Amino acid sequence: MSPSSPTRLPAGPGVRVRAPSKVNLYLAVGDVRDDGYHDLVTVFHALDLADELTITPARRSSVRCTPADGVPAGAKNLAGMAVRLLAQRTRSGGPVAIDIAKQIPVAGGMAGGSADAAAALVGCAALWELDLDRRQLTEIGRELGADVPFALAGGTALGTGRGDLLSPVMTRARLHWVLAMAEGGLSTPAVFAELDRLREQGNPPRVKPVDTMLAALAGGEPAAVAAALGNDLQAAAVSLQPELRRTLRAGEAAGALGGVVSGSGPTVAFLCADAESAGAVAAELAGSGTCRSVRVAAGPAPGARVIPTSPVRG
Ligand code: C5P
Repeated sequence: MSPSSPTRLPAGPGVRVRAPSKVNLYLAVGDVRDDGYHDLVTVFHALDLADELTITPARRSSVRCTPADGVPAGAKNLAGMAVRLLAQRTRSGGPVAIDIAKQIPVAGGMAGGSADAAAALVGCAALWELDLDRRQLTEIGRELGADVPFALAGGTALGTGRGDLLSPVMTRARLHWVLAMAEGGLSTPAVFAELDRLREQGNPPRVKPVDTMLAALAGGEPAAVAAALGNDLQAAAVSLQPELRRTLRAGEAAGALGGVVSGSGPTVAFLCADAESAGAVAAELAGSGTCRSVRVAAGPAPGARVIPTSPVRG
């Protein structure tokens, strides 16, 4: 849809919202529950690799994503679902056109869909001048997906339950990352199911308790954080995409302090000593032929928030 599309109002003011991606520094997966979810203990960490949404009042609701590859269209788009749920819960609002400038890899284990949902909630709450606090937005976000509350909160946080019950984690660490994007994505339910299957066969081993990671974050030393990285879903992601083993080896050979599959993958996140080292690791990894593309990023980054700007004209 072009900016002059007839579905837009001629001169409606809009809002721009930025929402962060995440890596799980630590992810322990417990048993599957009656609702089909698994109990988690996880440490989320928000990165400045972010999606940006422009939300504008329109005659008809629409969601456009650039680039569009692999992003669910129409009713299945989580940002559109977020707008509908918010309108329903608050009995307010009206049709909006959402433009997503996508930076977060699609189906990459970095919660890109959840970021877009969080941004849509924050953006529409501002646009419709709703009297909602963060806690109320989080309650609505939780219904959209387990990772949406963290996309609203940002920073570094301990997640329990489905990963949606959050408490902030104290850290002085500024962490520099290289992200290795894989060819294609992985379905989150498929990766959880693969872990269940591997466990029925008696493996793989579970990650150690979370205390080591929390102590490393409190200390703020990237090397200690790297030593404490762990993800129960990694074995399942590698089982479904065995090429990830080569990516993990290549990043560590390039000088990263440590690497971990991000969430359910297939993006691999490499923690580096500092920004300079991240640049060098990214350059070497890009030439290794073990991933589709690489990006550098830093964290912690803030949660979904409106970007102050002059009004968007439709
Ligand atoms: O909540 P969300 O839509 O992000 O979850 C996608 C799927 O990932 C769930 O339907 C479930 O299969 C799996 N999942 C899980 N346990 C969690 C989070 C997600 O099994 N704690």
